Amino acid sequence: MNPQAEQLNKIIEEKNPVVLELLSERGKNIFFPKKGILGQTADAKGTKINATIGAAIEDDGSPMRLEAIASKVGLDPSLIFPYAPSFGRPDIRAKWKSMIYEKNPSLEGQELSLPVVTNALTHGISMAGYMFLNPGDEVIVPDLFWGNYNLILNNAYGASLTKFNLFKNGGFDLDAFKAKLEYGGIGKKVLILNFPNNPSGYTPTFEEANAIIEIIKESAEKGNKLVVITDDAYFGLVYQEGIATESIFASLCKLHENILAVKVDGPTKEDYVWGFRVGFITYGIKNGDAHMYSALEAKTAGAIRGNISNSANISQSLLLGAFNSTEYHKQKEAKFNIMKARYDAVKEALTDNKYNECFTAIPYNSGYFMCVKLVDGLDGEKVRQVLIEKYSIGLINLNNVLRIAYSAVAASDVKELFEGIYNACLDCK
Ligand SMILES: Cc1ncc(COP(=O)(O)O)c(C=O)c1O
Repeated sequence: MNPQAEQLNKIIEEKNPVVLELLSERGKNIFFPKKGILGQTADAKGTKINATIGAAIEDDGSPMRLEAIASKVGLDPSLIFPYAPSFGRPDIRAKWKSMIYEKNPSLEGQELSLPVVTNALTHGISMAGYMFLNPGDEVIVPDLFWGNYNLILNNAYGASLTKFNLFKNGGFDLDAFKAKLEYGGIGKKVLILNFPNNPSGYTPTFEEANAIIEIIKESAEKGNKLVVITDDAYFGLVYQEGIATESIFASLCKLHENILAVKVDGPTKEDYVWGFRVGFITYGIKNGDAHMYSALEAKTAGAIRGNISNSANISQSLLLGAFNSTEYHKQKEAKFNIMKARYDAVKEALTDNKYNECFTAIPYNSGYFMCVKLVDGLDGEKVRQVLIEKYSIGLINLNNVLRIAYSAVAASDVKELFEGIYNACLDCK
């Protein structure tokens, strides 16, 4: 093992040996190289003639650039063209951290890592896989989950996804969750919680969230060692009263020294910047301190360095500018209201009882999506085809559950959408 990795492992172990145990073999071996090219480049910072950096510089010291590109973006070239650090830019990391505390007030007093910038959430989940999953490890997910977890965690890291039943009696199936966590005896457990959930569009109620937290705590008290990845892709898009508006990460990161909470989040869906490719990975654990967190950050940045090197500087700059803008919150609220109006239109449309002949809604209250389950005898794939050909309506069929991204449908079109689904179902009966 490289001595730099050994050093980071020692820091982690001294603070909390469980965290070291939770790391994968890759996670144990990785480090952020302080020596070599990066170290020598850092040493040369501020020199008059700096010939270390692998980028081109104009004679006046500014980044070499094509005017055809520079003229399209109203930012200083230094914020666009140079590489960003593998950790992400320090300014946006600090800003995002302060935003995590603002969005989750119950985190007050809990120490967290600085967020490490990833190439959006897919990459954040992938880096969590790198850090914590060995081939053959199981990852607990609900039976309705974002299908890309398969490619990210199974194909890439050889982990297997093991599912629990998500819904019972119109709410979160706590018994199934508890049983899944208890299954297989005491040991390392990795789970992903994604609220608001893709595809169901569900966020647990306060009561359910508290029960989920209690179940995870009990599991840790029994001696299990847990990595809980919270995929907060749709954070903030909660449309009903009585539902947790803070991330469940806020509770998990102070719960028990056997529980490492790994928050994967970012502006992709929250701030409507799908193509920017910026996300964050942030660590929290009871009694965690800056020293241990910085070792985890260095390992994560090392994984990123050996994978994509670093995330786009231009995207980080544009986002930081937005986060610091006095207009940011107002503009975000305006978009939230549009999303909420679409959600309300779905609720309204589904008050029509005739739809029950063909489909029923799966619990939903947040996010971009909702799903309807087709009645027995209807073939989701056939319905999907008819919807495209006869009604010009596109949606996703997931084993006779139709996922509807109402985030992409004007409120005024929502009734027509459900009428189309209903009529397509009748056509297929
Ligand atoms: C639950 C969930 N997590 C993560 C992602 C990926 O987000 P990103 O585009 O930031 O990689 C998605 C995208 O659809 C998602 O639905």
